[in-house]
Amino acid sequence: MAVAPDDHVLEIGCGRGTAVSLVAERLTTGTIVAIDRAATMARLASERNAGHISSGRAEIRGTGFESADLTRRHFTKIFAVNVSLFWLGTAPEQIERVRDLLAPGGVLYIFGERPTSANAEGNVVSTERLLRAHGFDTTRSIVARGQSRLFTCVTGTPTP
Ligand SMILES: C[S@@+](CC[C@H](N)C(=O)[O-])C[C@H]1O[C@@H](n2cnc3c(N)ncnc32)[C@H](O)[C@@H]1O
Repeated sequence: MAVAPDDHVLEIGCGRGTAVSLVAERLTTGTIVAIDRAATMARLASERNAGHISSGRAEIRGTGFESADLTRRHFTKIFAVNVSLFWLGTAPEQIERVRDLLAPGGVLYIFGERPTSANAEGNVVSTERLLRAHGFDTTRSIVARGQSRLFTCVTGTPTP
């Protein structure tokens, strides 16, 4: 994702907050807002990232993306890791919402970890279809991670 020090990042479905830590340690003037609809996950992510929260670089909220109060056209990067919202194809209004939240020039990154190349390809194709149907240009990558996992990424850039 090549996080820049001044990025304003949103993570959807942060789980225990591992990625929040990796992003926040690259920020100086930038910020990360991370949300998870599971209160337990938001609590664990907050505990893990207490230092980044107290420095003002990270904010973690226990809320679903659907109802989260977020600033429009603010985020330079929005990402999710292993959040099915982005490949089940069931959330067209949420994809529109992502577009509305991205700052001009901003990019959406949908990451996934899958056990087989067929799973990985299926996920990537579903995400590409969803994003293209909502006016995003996409790029993709699938890379091996260890012996039995494939790591996928689809990026989405809103077309003007
Ligand atoms: C499979 S876990 C992945 C967690 C983390 N991203 C990771 O890779 O370790 C999916 C997480 O997304 C959260 N989630 C799913 N749909 C969501 C939504 N619509 N809004 C916010 N969080 C969501 C779940 O509560 C769960 O913690």
